[in-house]
Amino acid sequence: MSPQSRPRVFVTRQIPEKGLECLRQVAKVEVWPGDMPPNRDELLRHAEGCQGLLTLLSDRVDGELLDQVGPQLRVVCNYAVGFNNIDVAAAQQRGVAVGNTPDVLTDATADLAVTLLLAAARRLPEAIDQVRHGDWKTWEPLGLIGVDLTGKTLGIIGMGRIGLAVACRMHAGWSMDVLYTARSPKPEANQQVGGRHVDLDTLLANSDFISVHCPLSDETRGMLDAPQFAQMRSHVVLVNTARGEVIDQPALLKALTEKKIFAAGLDVTTPEPLPPEHPLVGLPQCVIAPHIGSASRDSREQMAMIAANNIIAGLNGRPLPHAVS
Ligand code: DGY
Repeated sequence: MSPQSRPRVFVTRQIPEKGLECLRQVAKVEVWPGDMPPNRDELLRHAEGCQGLLTLLSDRVDGELLDQVGPQLRVVCNYAVGFNNIDVAAAQQRGVAVGNTPDVLTDATADLAVTLLLAAARRLPEAIDQVRHGDWKTWEPLGLIGVDLTGKTLGIIGMGRIGLAVACRMHAGWSMDVLYTARSPKPEANQQVGGRHVDLDTLLANSDFISVHCPLSDETRGMLDAPQFAQMRSHVVLVNTARGEVIDQPALLKALTEKKIFAAGLDVTTPEPLPPEHPLVGLPQCVIAPHIGSASRDSREQMAMIAANNIIAGLNGRPLPHAVS
């Protein structure tokens, strides 16, 4: 195929080279060079006329963008498992296939959820700060007391792949009992961790640790708000590696400052990035990471390969190996 007749693909950020190489075999690929995402105007301008778009969760893909890109657009793939930044219905109406990169980031994200849970439960950031700032004066019988983990109850909100991977880790490593919410009972959760399918209220009232893994949708936006925090146990550690908007952040701040819950570990916030002056950032009992759930070498490389293969399939009019609907 001559370079002129190759389809054009715009990739909105540098991703691992392997995926780009694969795309370059079949398409003329433009990669946004900045460390920061393209702003809206830049995105609209660079995407215009493309047949494929490889986007990130920081890029809003809506009807306006799809129309601006033009009717030749065949496929959009998000370099993420989540795709709440894409108006899937708008894409489908225009005959554009939409894909994502599931599975390959399950372990990395579950590992981070467990890391945040442990760090928040054992007050690790406070402990590290104490050492760094010269505040470690002596061995303290009553200093930096955290909460125990073994044999406690873990509540998983959203028992998908990542939720199950977290449950398996906490069940195998810390003998935790598992409660979970999901649209329907998951036999694999029952088999692998003895998980019990319950409603949200039951989960909130009976869990010692709560980990959020549901996708962001109209149904889940603000799902954990003041009434939900009021139902939680006072020693609860809440972890969120899904999407910040699932939690009502002012309600979380209140629950933490009024000690209605023990601690939180967040990989996702509203907004992202969370400004350093945000009150949650200064709270010792809130551990915040900058959305690094999938940030492991293998995961990111495999995400790049899945995204490339999705785009190539879409360009060729074939069903995407990892399509969203
Ligand atoms: C996802 O994949 O949805 C994560 O949030 C980013 O890796």
